[in-house]
Amino acid sequence: MKTVKVAIIGMGTVGGGTYDLLTANHDKILSSYGLDVQIKKVLDKDEQKLANKVKPEQVCRSLDEILADEEISIVVEVMGGVEPAKTFITKIMQSGKSVVTANKELISKQWADLERVARENGVGLYFEASCVGGVPIIRTLNESLQGDNIKSIMGIINGTTNYILTKMTEEGMSYEQALAQAQQLGYAEFNPTADVDGYDAMYKLSILSSLAFHTCIPYTSIYREGITKVSQDDITFGKNTGYKIKLLAIGKKKDNDVEVRVHPTLIAENHPLASVSGAFNAVFLNGDFVDDVMLYGRGAGAYPTGSAIVSDVIYCALKTSHVYTDFENDGKVSEDINIVSDYESKYYVNLIVDDKPGVIASISSVWGKNGVSIKFFNQSAFTQNDYVPIVIMTHTSNENMVQKTLGEIASLPCVREIRSVIRVID
Ligand code: NAP
Ligand code: HSE
Repeated sequence: MKTVKVAIIGMGTVGGGTYDLLTANHDKILSSYGLDVQIKKVLDKDEQKLANKVKPEQVCRSLDEILADEEISIVVEVMGGVEPAKTFITKIMQSGKSVVTANKELISKQWADLERVARENGVGLYFEASCVGGVPIIRTLNESLQGDNIKSIMGIINGTTNYILTKMTEEGMSYEQALAQAQQLGYAEFNPTADVDGYDAMYKLSILSSLAFHTCIPYTSIYREGITKVSQDDITFGKNTGYKIKLLAIGKKKDNDVEVRVHPTLIAENHPLASVSGAFNAVFLNGDFVDDVMLYGRGAGAYPTGSAIVSDVIYCALKTSHVYTDFENDGKVSEDINIVSDYESKYYVNLIVDDKPGVIASISSVWGKNGVSIKFFNQSAFTQNDYVPIVIMTHTSNENMVQKTLGEIASLPCVREIRSVIRVID
């Protein structure tokens, strides 16, 4: 039997879930792995949270107490944010302790520095819980699919936005109401802008695509668009034409070209990702030999994320030498990789135009002139005053040409508003 003494920093949603799991499954972990995992210290800014949850002898009031405690070998960081989390983690690793974290923002922004400190000090830095909650995606990429060249990774990797879009689609709930529920349920980030504007999914995609493609994919190289502009009109269009709207994170690698993007997507109802609802997440991978693999589970919440944290604690405790990235983790895309922004997609566009002769012809001619082929064109039968909504779906086209076309369309005098542009996957 090996005794492993752990400290937890942050007794919020994930800290609480981790605490409960380590307490409830202590004996199971002991009998399965011979590990007696004990929570020795818990630190949180909020004294009340500690008083409500942890034993008095576990309460700790400063990082220094954790650093000075030689019995503690693993520290779980679940306080979130970049600072002071980076400083804390750096000091913890410099004191010879390993770190388990759920902090995707920190890993995606400061991974290179943190991994350097971990290597220099021979300690572990593990972050399964940072991506897709309880779904073991990082271990799958690192340990189960090493033989394959991963060609694509496509997923619903933010629980909050999937919860909001599901409630808006299935119950006609307003965006604000659905977001409030996601916050109450503990899915949302401290500042939910990170979720709804796509930052959280962007940080996760940066980590996952780096691991999948064996090169740093900085978050700054990822195209990002959130769900705040998705309207009930877009959702209704999807319902009427056989699509669901999901916030997708997409990474593809072909030879040396990599495309990485996060945006709302109209995805065909028969696609496996279309049926992923609520706070559930899924990642759909394709490898050159394994072909398609899909992982599905709860992407957020105290217990699923706590489960991922505890899996890392056990993994870390059982390692005799720690595992780091298999690529040069210097925070830069390697020189032989091109990040491409002119990818191919189909597009749905919702326009508000003047209701007068010649308008449809002038709009169609701009698409035609730029070589973007239209699959579907529909003018609403219901004119509102003197304007009318038009919906267009293109065939597969190039992003740059579509953006050029939209720029030209926006400047036509008959076009009042480009209300939505959503990429489409069949
Ligand atoms: P949370 O509920 O806000 O918990 C964070 C806790 O840490 C709060 O109690 C906070 O206290 C405390 N804290 C903040 N700064 C501190 C400091 N300097 N010293 C001591 N304690 C401090 O957040 P969470 O949802 O558990 O998320 C924690 C981390 O896990 C984040 O990195 C998040 O991205 C990640 N994550 C969350 C989920 C999820 O489903 N929630 C899933 C995967 C990953 P105050 O409240 O007083 O500030
Ligand atoms: N806010 C995140 C989400 C938590 O909604 O997916 C899980 O990382």
